[in-house]
Amino acid sequence: MMGDLNAIRAAARLLEAGQLVAIPTETVYGLAADAGNPEAVAAIFAAKGRPSNHPVIVHVARDADLSRWASDIPAEARTLIDAFWPGPLTLILARAGHVPAAVTGGQDSVGLRCPSHPVAQALLKEFRGGQGGLAAPSANRFGRVSPTTAQHVIDEFGAPGEGPLAAVLDGGQSDIGIESTIVDLTRLATRGPVLLRPGGISAAQIEQVLGRALAAPDMAAPRVSGSLDAHYAPRTPVALAGSGELASVANRLAQKGRRAALMVWSDSAPASSAAQTLRLPADPEGYAHALYAGLRAMDAQGADLILVEQPPGALAWQGVNDRLRRAAFDSSGVLAQLLA
Ligand code: TXA
Ligand code: MG
Repeated sequence: MMGDLNAIRAAARLLEAGQLVAIPTETVYGLAADAGNPEAVAAIFAAKGRPSNHPVIVHVARDADLSRWASDIPAEARTLIDAFWPGPLTLILARAGHVPAAVTGGQDSVGLRCPSHPVAQALLKEFRGGQGGLAAPSANRFGRVSPTTAQHVIDEFGAPGEGPLAAVLDGGQSDIGIESTIVDLTRLATRGPVLLRPGGISAAQIEQVLGRALAAPDMAAPRVSGSLDAHYAPRTPVALAGSGELASVANRLAQKGRRAALMVWSDSAPASSAAQTLRLPADPEGYAHALYAGLRAMDAQGADLILVEQPPGALAWQGVNDRLRRAAFDSSGVLAQLLA
């Protein structure tokens, strides 16, 4: 289904009736349900195979009344909303009393985001007259790579009617390509604002607007499933190699008869004939935009390993490096085994 006005209206009616609809956002595609309907939210968890104690983000329209969702909206939240909404920033705030526990994972906080994608915006305006909320995690099975196209969503869950989805709104390829930045504002007095997940908006941009530093998560931070170490992972093992060692690692794999799929970005990366090579843009925004589609394409090669050229360590690459580290987490030791 395309993201035209009729499809958007039909999707809003399906969501109001408690159905699941996949929606485009500027970060990744979301698996949406009415956040005010606990059974509909439970269906998201069932479809994803996600543990039910993980909270989901509530997506709201531009002019939504946030007091429906959050009991306290501190000045810092207003500042960040003015600067970055609509856009790829999720704020964790103290929840309002009636927000279903299915949405918050039983915690006393709620995650709120106002996406900028025009189809998501139009849908949120149409859904419950612009005053509802759509609970939407990324539209992938638990632990897998997030989808950045409607086809990725269908690859995960089947076409509408064939699986758990009542509709898929097609809004083209997601612009940003990695999930929203998450900032926790529930513990301002004790810890200050906390960066729970790096993403589309950089920590530096947020710190500049707030005029203060972001803290890193600690043990008391609310649960964020994206912060589980193994996450965003393709089925094929993933290993990272520095630009300087990439060629020799690829050659040694080839000598052992191993099939590697290479994902590179720099000019110094080898044009190895032994391996399938995908070149990603050398700037952090372009790389993030192409990253998940690239991992999916590499996963489809049936290789023994996806060998990723380590991106630069600069702060602008924080979101990308976070996702790659998690994609490779389950595969630690695999490279050594393949080379043994
Ligand atoms: O860009 C995004 O944020 C995408 C699009 C669809 O909006 N959504 C997304 O959702 O990435 P998901 O569920 O895959 O990741 C959302 C993260 C999870 O790690 C979840 O634990 C965290 O947000 N989260 C949601 N509500 C929270 C809360 N009350 N406290 C702490 N973390 C929360
Ligand atoms: Mg996710």
